[in-house]
Parts: sequence; C-alpha cells; structure tokens
Amino acid sequence: FQPKLLAGKRVLITAGPTSEPIDPVRVISNRSSGKMGYAIARAAQEAGAHVTLVSGPVALETPYQVRRINVETARQMHATVMSQVDDADIFISVAAVADWYVSNASDIKIKKTSEQATPNLQFSPNPDILAEVAALKNGPFCVGFAAETDNLIEHAQAKRQRKNVPLLVANLAQRAMNADDTELVLFDEQGHMHWPAQDKLLAARQLVQNIAQRL
Ligand code: C5P
Repeated sequence: FQPKLLAGKRVLITAGPTSEPIDPVRVISNRSSGKMGYAIARAAQEAGAHVTLVSGPVALETPYQVRRINVETARQMHATVMSQVDDADIFISVAAVADWYVSNASDIKIKKTSEQATPNLQFSPNPDILAEVAALKNGPFCVGFAAETDNLIEHAQAKRQRKNVPLLVANLAQRAMNADDTELVLFDEQGHMHWPAQDKLLAARQLVQNIAQRL
C-alpha cells in the first residue's frame, strides 16, 4: 500500500534546457536531457498530484497523466510559469534555464561572409524564473535545483539563500548530466544532507516524499 502523499496537490515543474535563437537555424542552449525533471513529474503524479510540466526541448515521452506545455526560450518558459503559478501548491524548478538570450538575433540566416568573419552576438539577461516565483506573496512551496561543476557545497548554499527558496537540490553536473542515475545533496535552513547515487526515478520518488513532509 502506497499512501498518496500529494493527493489533490497541484505541482508545477520546469524541466529540460531552454533554447535561445541566434537566427532561424542556430541556437544557444544548455546541456540538459530533462530526465530528472520528467522523473519528478512522474513521481509527483504517482503520489496523487495534478502535475503541469513546462518543458524545454527534450526527447522524452510525457509521463502518464501529466499535463505538458512545451516552450523553447527562457522568456517563453517564464511567461508560461507565471500564467500557471497561481494554481500551484508546489513549484519545482528543474530546468536548466539559459542565463542569457541573444538580443541581436537575426530574422534571417546569418551568412558566412568570409572564412575569418564571425558574428558579433549581444546578450541580455533572462528572467530568473525561480527567484521570481519564490518572491511571490502566498506563492507555492519552491524547490530549486543546481548543477555545479565544483565547490558544490558552497555554491549550492549561496544559491539557496540568493534565490530565497526553502529547499535547494544540488548535484554534480559532470556525473548527473544525461546519466540515468544521480547523487543528490539537499540544502535547507538546517544544513545539508547527501543521498547516495541512485536511479533518477528512485531519487525523484524520495524527493517527492521529502517535499510532502515539508508542507
Ligand atoms: O542557473 P542556476 O544555477 O542559478 O539555477 C538554479 C535554479 O534556478 C534552478 O532551479 C533553475 O531551474 C532556476 N533558474 C530559473 N531561471 C533562470 C535561471 C535558473 O528558474 N533564469
């Protein structure tokens, strides 16, 4: 017998990368398979939640009975999350959101004019979706993710405070990226706790249980 820990709860999840156009045929993106976010969407649905998954471009099947909204850019992800967040009890931000978009993207394909010439791209910052949701009055319970390549503990602790989220989940980017298993470290106001490497779906189920206990 599995108790439905999130029965009736509404969970909003972002997953996958965002994709920022340079021109109609080229993009700048982040490395993210979407596996962790999709596993969490599945685990939350299994736990009885109504799940909305705002997804960047990934090659994964939509989990059973999960409502999926596809987006490409961070600005689209931001607008979609803001339009859905009023209904959410829990927001889990797993997406690898691009920090910048190309502000001088071209409407037509940029031509190679010579062997040496390279385009001058200009960047503007994307909105920080998680920080914005975490700052909402009467907003959902927020969970952030952080993929770090180094100094995981310090960076993740600082990120939790900067984004002002009660729970931040960190993993080592080199290990987790595109892998089927992951080693998570959970940071909250008490400190941090390390879970051994496990399959992403098992980690997702454990995380959903952990979140349910915090509500
Ligand atoms: O990119 P960064 O390491 O700051 O991401 C930490 C958390 O913030 C992740 O949960 C990510 O989904 C979220 N984020 C966001 N909007 C951004 C950048 C990150 O929601 N523009």
